[in-house]
Amino acid sequence: MTKKLFVKTYGCQMNVYDSERMAGALEGQGYEVTEDQAEADMILLNTCHIREKAAEKVYSELGRLKPLKAANPDLKIGVAGCVAQAEGEEIIRRQPMVDLVVGPQAYHRLPEMDAKLQTGARAIDTEFPEEDKFEHLPKARGPKASRAPTAFLTVQEGCDKFCAFCVVPYTRGAEVSRPAERLLAEARDLVERGVVEITLLGQNVNAYEADGWSLARLIREMAKVDGLERIRFTTSHPNDMSEDLIAAHGEVEKLMPYLHLPVQSGSDSVLKAMNRKHTAEKYLRVLEKMREARPDIALSGDFIVGFPGESDADFEATLALCEEVRYAQAYSFKYSPRPGTPAAGREDVDEAVKSERLARLQAMLTAHQAEFQAAQVGKVLPVLLEKPGRLEGQLVGRSPYLQAVHLQADPSDVGTIIPVKIMASEKNSLAGVRDTTTSGAI
Ligand code: SAH
Ligand code: SF4
Ligand code: F3S
Repeated sequence: MTKKLFVKTYGCQMNVYDSERMAGALEGQGYEVTEDQAEADMILLNTCHIREKAAEKVYSELGRLKPLKAANPDLKIGVAGCVAQAEGEEIIRRQPMVDLVVGPQAYHRLPEMDAKLQTGARAIDTEFPEEDKFEHLPKARGPKASRAPTAFLTVQEGCDKFCAFCVVPYTRGAEVSRPAERLLAEARDLVERGVVEITLLGQNVNAYEADGWSLARLIREMAKVDGLERIRFTTSHPNDMSEDLIAAHGEVEKLMPYLHLPVQSGSDSVLKAMNRKHTAEKYLRVLEKMREARPDIALSGDFIVGFPGESDADFEATLALCEEVRYAQAYSFKYSPRPGTPAAGREDVDEAVKSERLARLQAMLTAHQAEFQAAQVGKVLPVLLEKPGRLEGQLVGRSPYLQAVHLQADPSDVGTIIPVKIMASEKNSLAGVRDTTTSGAI
């Protein structure tokens, strides 16, 4: 009899990719994915530890699952992902109904772990084994069930940068890149399943390096895969933006004009305290080169406000940097002290000050985003239609700049790239109509 697996994914896109692979690994154990938590035989939470709020979500969710477990003692509850890695057995101490704790580098061991669970025992694995989990997990199946034309592909994992605020080097381990040949094979496989856009993932994706291949070379080779129309990658570190990768943006047609390049702060003294190993000036020079290579590039970033020691003047420097860059979109967060990181013991900035700074920064970033979106109105953009929209007869897709675009279209058009005339800019999306007069090439 098939058992049902329900997976809930938190955090970054790497977790989305991992969740699919975990489901694949458990398929061999007789599990089939369900969207209905109530009928699950196993519930797996794939968690994120990046900020306190993200980590606490896991415990609230476990609290909510308690009645389900009480009603069905055979239900297995598992915690995977970065909280599992960071907290290990502590999770079971806080929530004894948890049966399984598995860290991100041990997912290929899930079948054995499940076998152990079936004997009534608990299973915990937060090791960083020698072997590469991806080579031991079943191949990515792609988003077959959802028939989505876009897919993630993890090419690199882990981080050696050790920013003073960040848990990732501890939860994901050292930087490891997957062999290029495997990735090209996986890309071809995804395309065969109807995928037309692949986003290459890594905690420091531009630090990719395998058998002498750089990320730029991998992108150039992947662009040769017939049927693959769009390539994206995320997340990059400013110090790993090589000349070749920058040049690829002007040369590889399938590489989309969008770069997410977090800077975190515009103040050199804060950047130093964060151990970012670059200045604001160096970061701006990278962006300048990017704009030379691809003048219409849409830029995105991440910011932390209220890092320990951040003064008013430091924060003003962040605003000044944003004013200069004018991001197409960006993410900003209040600093959250994370256990085990170097900054955790430092004196925290007052919560009210953090809130005020975040509100000011977000107001500026939102205004710039609106400005970037408004500039698309009247243009014809090639839009990859991804899925049904909220309204009847509507489909939602993405512009090359990763903006959501909604329009009236036939459901059978999902997976195609069509020219769309942009008619209006709304809060987080663009409204358009199919353009019948041009090819939509940009
Ligand atoms: N590898 C990527 C992303 C890391 S996590 C990078 O280097 O940019 C995503 C974002 O979360 C970070 O860019 C940072 O802005 C934010 N972040 C990480 N740790 C944080 C913390 N302790 N408090 C608040 N925000 C944090
Ligand atoms: Fe975290 Fe810094 Fe590594 Fe990004 S580069 S994952 S912020 S330690
Ligand atoms: Fe979160 Fe881990 Fe990703 S901490 S952001 S799920 S790498």
